Amino acid sequence: MQQRQVMSNYAKRVLPVEEIDESELEIGEGSVSMIDREHVAVCRDQNGEINRCSPICKHAGGVVRWNAAAGTWDCPVHGGRYAANGDRLYGPPTESLDQPKEQAAKR
Ligand code: FES
Repeated sequence: MQQRQVMSNYAKRVLPVEEIDESELEIGEGSVSMIDREHVAVCRDQNGEINRCSPICKHAGGVVRWNAAAGTWDCPVHGGRYAANGDRLYGPPTESLDQPKEQAAKR
C-alpha cells in the first residue's frame, strides 16, 4: 500500500490546477480538473447528470482519464476502468473511485 500512497501523492502534484464550471459540460463530456479547490474527475453522463469522483485510481494511484467514446474513466497505468459515477467496472482496481466526501474524510 505504500506504493499506492507514493503514486497518489505524485498524481496530486501533476494534476491540473485550473478550476472549471461543471455546468458548462455537455452530455458525454468529462474532465479531470479542480472544483472548489479540490481535484475531481467530473463528467455529465448520458442522462445529463453531473458525476464527481476522485481522479486517483484505487489500484496504484494513477490518474484516470475521461473516455468519451465509452463514457468511462480509464486508468492509463494498468487499464483499470470505472463507470461515469466512479463505480469499478473491471481491471486491477478492486474498489470504486472515492466520492468527494470520502476524499475529504481522508485528508
Ligand atoms: S494504477 Fe490504475 S489500474 Fe493500476
